[in-house]
Amino acid sequence: MSSQDRDRTLRSGRWFGTDDLSGFAHRSTLTPIGLSPEHFDGRPFVGIAQSWSDFAPCNAHFRQVAEHVKRGVAEAGGVALEFPTISLGENLAKPTAMLFRNLMAMDVEESIRMYPMDAVVLLGGCDKTLPAQLMGAASVDLPTVVVTAGPTSPRSYGGRRLGGGTDAWKLAERVRSGAADGSDVAAMEAAIMSTPGHCNEMGSASTITAVSEALGLAPAGSSTVPAMDGRRLAGAAAAGWLAVRMARDGGPQPSRILSREMFENAITLLMALGGSTNTIVHLLALAGRVGVELGLDDFARISARTPLLANLRPSGEFLLQDLDAAGGVPAMLAELAPLLHLDVPTVTGRTLGEEVAGAKATDRSVIASLDEPRAPTGGLAVVHGSLAPGGAVIKTSAASPELCVHRGPAVVFENVRDLAARIDDPELDVEPSSVLVLRNSGPKGGPGMPEWGMLPIPAKLLARGVTDMVRVSDARMSGTAFGTNVLHVAPESAAGGPLALVRDGDPIVLDVPAGRLDLEVDPAELERRRAELRPPTPRYRRGYGALYLRHVQQSDKGCDFDFLAKHPEEGPDNEAE
Ligand code: FES
Repeated sequence: MSSQDRDRTLRSGRWFGTDDLSGFAHRSTLTPIGLSPEHFDGRPFVGIAQSWSDFAPCNAHFRQVAEHVKRGVAEAGGVALEFPTISLGENLAKPTAMLFRNLMAMDVEESIRMYPMDAVVLLGGCDKTLPAQLMGAASVDLPTVVVTAGPTSPRSYGGRRLGGGTDAWKLAERVRSGAADGSDVAAMEAAIMSTPGHCNEMGSASTITAVSEALGLAPAGSSTVPAMDGRRLAGAAAAGWLAVRMARDGGPQPSRILSREMFENAITLLMALGGSTNTIVHLLALAGRVGVELGLDDFARISARTPLLANLRPSGEFLLQDLDAAGGVPAMLAELAPLLHLDVPTVTGRTLGEEVAGAKATDRSVIASLDEPRAPTGGLAVVHGSLAPGGAVIKTSAASPELCVHRGPAVVFENVRDLAARIDDPELDVEPSSVLVLRNSGPKGGPGMPEWGMLPIPAKLLARGVTDMVRVSDARMSGTAFGTNVLHVAPESAAGGPLALVRDGDPIVLDVPAGRLDLEVDPAELERRRAELRPPTPRYRRGYGALYLRHVQQSDKGCDFDFLAKHPEEGPDNEAE
């Protein structure tokens, strides 16, 4: 075959489309994996970003899913090449998977950029894997299709279908209060994680996978299909076909899809789902990758105009399987249509409005109507004030309404070790009206902004029947957690934020309807305290940890590295020739 016969417009043609020594080397390099000269006749090459890992069992089925993506690519006349990246198993990665989200994003980005592919299919599920992939792929800007892991199938215990995260948190509280014992723990340990697939409540993974539909990057209706359902394999093949078509058409690429309007659609869905606060951080980071101006105020504004529709744990009753049966994300988006930008392109080339046309909620106990919502405003709120000049967030759908306006004295924990050592001390000076404060848990202080924001209720208050208190920290919270937890306080204490200045007994005022979080201490006294502050000792002196500490931004900027945001002078394609 001569070079004229090969499709020079494809990116992969730079590797395979020349008759010189370089083309010879590139083509012959792929013969050991079974490719033959016919495969280099101008067919699109589709990369499959694989986040399978035994350390991330939520993604354990992705090797099988990848085979079906490959099938779809081949059926559509393309060539699929799978490549591994690091993977992030939420429950096993220490100190927290979030510390490595940006590392995985860089791995995904540079893998896509360095190799000969014309489009990419992202296989992501467990909490941080999909955000990392979205960020990396958005920065390269090749045509991109998202295939998510789908939710795990629930087992039951004690007559209740288990949600992987929420029911583990509830068990922990029951053990600490003496309401559950070792036999409950053993039975739950065997039952709580059942099949591959991500957590099956509207936690962090379920929220970002659902939001990837509203962002237009995952095909409509794909994210809620259970991990172990044959529809997921059929969807994987369909994603393969789609990727080949996009490669031939040259798009649409993420930069065409991820407009400000699309981010507003995604935030609207997030609020109506009562989704995870972690999604705020990821969307802010993703917006930075594509140069869309997005801030916490956008979340506050959209939350105020978006009713809570979904009845899903942890803020409601049902699981992801129920959302899928009730019509899934398309039914949610169809319900939200008056609040959405519908005339925006998605990965299929059709508009979001076309994608969800005809979708309908089939079970109003799972998806409420816009006329009769579960709550008049969204599930998340943003607060600012003297304790959080850069803002903080609270998942109101999982909070106690009576605590959303509250004034109480601070009980301060210096870090998570101090918290573990003292929280159940019978001598701890704490009352139900106290405000529990945890610092040194933010992006730099954690480091990695661990999910420590649902501080445990002190055992002596649990024994008195207290089930919720106001808690304030610079940490994140698992999307499956619940309670009146003010999170993501920015700037964080390790960066010198006012959280570092709080002392036991200081009055803290939370007023969610007014959007306020204030520390009622005389500013002159706070300045005196600031003069006594000593900068924390850096946890890392070398390696990735040192790079992270030097470059991570605060939570109101999405915790991305400062050098990874879209650069105004960067060309469209900066890969090596
Ligand atoms: Fe992987 Fe929850 S542990 S999604």
